[in-house]
Amino acid sequence: MDNRPIGFFDSGLGGLTSIPPMMKKLPNEKIIYFGDTARTPYGSKAVSTIRSFSKQIADFLVKQDVKMIVIACNTVSSTCLDDLNEMYPDIPIVGIIEPAADKVVRSCSEDSQVGIIGTKVTISTHAYKTMIEARDPDINVFETACPAFVPLIEEGIIASDIMDLTIHHYMDDFVMENRIDTLVLGCTHYPLIRSNIERIYPDIKLINPSEEIISSIDAILTERDMHSGESVIKNVFYASDLSENFINMIDAIMKGSGVDANVKFINLEINQV
Ligand code: DGL
Repeated sequence: MDNRPIGFFDSGLGGLTSIPPMMKKLPNEKIIYFGDTARTPYGSKAVSTIRSFSKQIADFLVKQDVKMIVIACNTVSSTCLDDLNEMYPDIPIVGIIEPAADKVVRSCSEDSQVGIIGTKVTISTHAYKTMIEARDPDINVFETACPAFVPLIEEGIIASDIMDLTIHHYMDDFVMENRIDTLVLGCTHYPLIRSNIERIYPDIKLINPSEEIISSIDAILTERDMHSGESVIKNVFYASDLSENFINMIDAIMKGSGVDANVKFINLEINQV
C-alpha cells in the first residue's frame, strides 16, 4: 500500500481528459496534475525543448513525492519517455502510447485500416505506427498531423462550425484515401472533440489513449502493491499559467464526475520551483 499521490502532466489542459476515467477506476488515488499552460503547445516545438521542459516538470513532480509519473501527453510520451525513465529509474513512469497501441492490436483484425491523428511532433516520431506494427505487422497504420486542433481546443472553440471545418480540412482525404475504419485520438486534447469526429465520421471506431492509459496505471500499482488505501481525495491541479481557459476546461471536463469539490487550483510558475 502506498498513499502518496500520482503525478500527471501535460503541455496544457489536454491531459485532464485522463482524470475522470482515472477517478472512476481508481477512486482512492490522489492526483497531482501539472499543465504547462504558459508554454503550451509543445506539439510543434523542437524535441530538445520538449525534453528540457519535461525534465523540469518531472523534477517538480518528484519533489512533490509522487509514487508514479503519468505522461498524459502523446507529444512528450513519443519523445521523452526513455529520457525520463533514465532520469528516475526508481519511479514508475507511464507513457500514453503503449497502452493505446495494445488496445489497437486487441481490437483490430489484420485487414483493419488504422488512422493516427496527433501533433506534428508525435506524428513525426512514428511512435504509434512503430509500436502497433511491432505488435502486429499485418495491421495497416496511417498517420496525419492536425496542428490547428490544439489551439482551437485551448480557446474553447469546440462546438462550432470552425472546428468542424478544421476537422474536414485535415481528415476528409486522409479518411477516404486510406479507408480508415479505426482512429486513434493521438493527442490528449482530442477527446474534447470526440463528438465532432463521431458526428462527421459515424462509421469509424475511435480509440482514446487518455482512457487506455488508466489500465496500465492500475496494472503497475497492482504489480508493485502501491494502491492507495485512503479514500479522502485531495487532488491538486497546478498550471504554469492559471488562465481562464484552464479553469473553464477543468470545470468542463470535471462536470458530472462528482469531484469538483475536491479540486484545488494553484498557480505555479515552474521556472521558480
Ligand atoms: N496534449 C498534447 C498531446 O497529447 C499536445 C498538445 C500540445 O501541442 O502541446 O500530444
